[in-house]
Amino acid sequence: MKKISIGYIFNEAKLKTEDKLFRELAKKKGINLILINTDKYLTEEDIEDKIKQCDLLFNNSTEDISMEITKTIEELGKRVIEPSEKFYYFEDKWMFFLKCFKHNIPTLRTILLSENIPIAKKELLAFGHWPVILKRVQGNNGEYVARAQNTSEAEKIMKRFWKKGSERLAIIAQEFVSSLSYRATVIGGKIVQTAIRPGHGWKKTGNHSNHIGKFKVDKELEKIIKKTVKVFGISVCGIDFLKKDGKWLVLEINAQPGLDFFLNDRKRLVGEILDFLAKEARKR
Ligand SMILES: Nc1ncnc2c1ncn2[C@@H]1O[C@H](COP(=O)(O)OP(=O)(O)O)[C@@H](O)[C@H]1O
Ligand SMILES: [Mg+2]
Repeated sequence: MKKISIGYIFNEAKLKTEDKLFRELAKKKGINLILINTDKYLTEEDIEDKIKQCDLLFNNSTEDISMEITKTIEELGKRVIEPSEKFYYFEDKWMFFLKCFKHNIPTLRTILLSENIPIAKKELLAFGHWPVILKRVQGNNGEYVARAQNTSEAEKIMKRFWKKGSERLAIIAQEFVSSLSYRATVIGGKIVQTAIRPGHGWKKTGNHSNHIGKFKVDKELEKIIKKTVKVFGISVCGIDFLKKDGKWLVLEINAQPGLDFFLNDRKRLVGEILDFLAKEARKR
């Protein structure tokens, strides 16, 4: 069989443990891994040169620059996992809600708020879920996620989000669901790991901890995961769930999921990703 070449896009001053694991395991599996560090100076010629031999590329960086380089590579005619166009739906929390709603994927009740605060307050009153969760349409690690008990708290939060960020992005309001936060890591349609997310209070954003446990995927959740992965067309992801009255609700999809929920299991996940990439690369 022809040796497969995979481009590995990352963004670090120097290789981190995970990057080294990719390199080490690729070698073991007979995959030629071509490192593309978007933290380094790269001309278009450099990029063209590096991707020439790649059968497929994998973007393992969440940095904006890596996304632009991913788009550049796609323009040059190569396939990257995840394809940049997919982010339109899962990097925007409002679009994510709309897509789930359209495809009957159970998710949290959500509305898009007006940027006019008196109107937003009216919308919140009409929505009628208290306390209410406010989120900027884009954000990570719970940085732009807050809970309001009433409209005056909501006003303060909206103003805080706009003051804090360099961008004045739209804000959604979402029903609050008191629940543990459940993470399922999915690679190529296969559920490879589950984790109950650590964290204090209602906001659970932690990745790595020795104290978090796993949970069992029941038939219902399995069905939801299959559908979600298909509808959003995502290959390597972490899907977060909350549970309300015994029913699963999809909270969000994360591309480039943390592989470090259980440090002693990280190597296996990297192996799963490489096997998946090699399989995809052979398809063409
Ligand atoms: N509607 C909600 N009800 C209860 N908890 C929530 C809700 N939305 C978010 N959270 C909590 O806040 C965390 C961060 O929210 P999330 O939507 O995942 O935003 P981010 O993209 O910043 O991670 C979640 O992991 C969850 O613990
Ligand atoms: Mg999250």
